[in-house]
Amino acid sequence: MPDLLVKLYELPDDRWRLEQLRNDGITVRNAMAYEKLQIIEWIRENFGKAWAGECDTAFSNRPISCFIATKNAGLVGFACYDSTMKNFFGPVGVAESDRNKGIGTALLLRCLHLMAAVGYAYAVIGGTDSVEFYEKTVNAFEIPGSSPGIYRDRLY
Ligand SMILES: CC(C)(COP(=O)(O)OP(=O)(O)OC[C@H]1O[C@@H](n2cnc3c(N)ncnc32)[C@H](O)[C@@H]1OP(=O)(O)O)[C@@H](O)C(=O)NCCC(=O)NCCS
Repeated sequence: MPDLLVKLYELPDDRWRLEQLRNDGITVRNAMAYEKLQIIEWIRENFGKAWAGECDTAFSNRPISCFIATKNAGLVGFACYDSTMKNFFGPVGVAESDRNKGIGTALLLRCLHLMAAVGYAYAVIGGTDSVEFYEKTVNAFEIPGSSPGIYRDRLY
């Protein structure tokens, strides 16, 4: 699974997308510290221990480098940046029942706009098998020779 690179100085605007989701009852917003345990548990149940651990790390950053998507006061998606490595985006996940509604793109773009705002010029998408998703949404491109990248000699 390769790493990808994204130009943060050429990001699409995401305000209309957030508005559209809001009209459909879905809010994309910053994760708050008082929600940390619920969020991490939801990620562990839906996506496994490794991503739960990465998201936990995002809660140590200031500002907390995690965005969530909510519907009816429940969680339907999350995304993190500056977690496993500085300058890395991910992980991101959307509940199976709510995929293909634009939530993943909205979470991705919120994180990337924040990364641009704090001073990064590029973001690295760490070791992904969803290359097409990132190509389509933010024109990401593969970093040659980046697999396995930092994901080596890992515990299973
Ligand atoms: C990848 C993921 C976050 C996308 O979330 P989503 O809310 O379904 O994505 P969106 O609705 O914003 O999709 C945007 C576009 O990407 C496409 N797309 C979505 N997931 C895709 C995937 N895994 N591979 C290729 N294309 C994908 C959608 O069809 C859509 O295309 P369209 O605009 O032509 O209709 C979600 O499928 C998911 O949680 N997958 C499991 C976890 C995962 O693989 N995370 C990424 C690993 S780093």
